[in-house]
Amino acid sequence: MNSYNVITLFPNLIEEWKNTGIINQALKNNLVAINSTNLRDYGIGTYKQVDDAPYGGGPGMVLMPEPLDKAITSSKADINVFLTPSGQQLNENLISELLEYKSINLVCGRYEGYDQRILEIHSDYEISIGQSVVSGGEIPALYLLEALIRKIPDVLGNPESLKSETFTDNKIDYPVYTRPEIFKNKKVPEVLLSGNHQKIDEWKKNNLKDI
Ligand SMILES: C[S@@+](CC[C@H](N)C(=O)[O-])C[C@H]1O[C@@H](n2cnc3c(N)ncnc32)[C@H](O)[C@@H]1O
Repeated sequence: MNSYNVITLFPNLIEEWKNTGIINQALKNNLVAINSTNLRDYGIGTYKQVDDAPYGGGPGMVLMPEPLDKAITSSKADINVFLTPSGQQLNENLISELLEYKSINLVCGRYEGYDQRILEIHSDYEISIGQSVVSGGEIPALYLLEALIRKIPDVLGNPESLKSETFTDNKIDYPVYTRPEIFKNKKVPEVLLSGNHQKIDEWKKNNLKDI
C-alpha cells in the first residue's frame, strides 16, 4: 500500500481533508495510508520554536533546520518531497513518476520558506504546483496527493475516467453534458442523445482538443 506522510504546522488541514470524497473512500478501503506529522512536536525549547529571523535581515521568518530534520528523520520514507514555489512544475508525468514510490514524506513550508541547508540535506524533489505563491505548503501538498491518489488502481469507481482525461496524450478532454436536454435555450449535441455508440465515440474523439 502506498503511504504518504505530510509534515506540517497545520495537521488539522490534512486530517479534515482525509474525511472527504474519494480520499476518504480510498482510506476506508485500505488502498492508501495518509499520516500527518506536526512539525511543532519537534520544535525547540518550552515554546516549541520552529522558525527564526533570517540571517542577513529581510522580511518574515524562516523555518529552522533542526525541527525539520528531526521530523523528517523520524518519519522514514523512500523519498522526501518539499513543496516550494521555485521547484519543478508539477504535471501528469511527474505524478506518474512519484507513483512508483511506496512511501513519501511531503514537507510543507510556511513564512519565507525553509533554511536552505535542510533542502540540501533531505530533498529528493522540490515541487511547485503553479506559478503563484500561496502562504503554505499544505494546499500544494493536498493538490499533489489528490492527483497521485486518484491514479492508484481501484481508487476511482470507474477506471475509464483516467483514460480520456485532460493532459492524457497532450489532449484536452471532450465537453460533457447531463440533464436537462435543453437548458436556457442551449441544447445537448444531438449525437449524444442518438444511442448510436459508434457515432458517439467518434464525436468524443473529434471533440478532444490539442493542448
Ligand atoms: C509564502 S511561501 C514562501 C515563498 C518564498 N519566500 C519564495 O518566494 O519562494 C511559504 C510556503 O508555501 C509553500 N508554497 C507557496 N507557493 C507554492 C507553490 N506554488 N507550490 C508549492 N508550494 C508553495 C511552500 O511550502 C513555501 O515554503
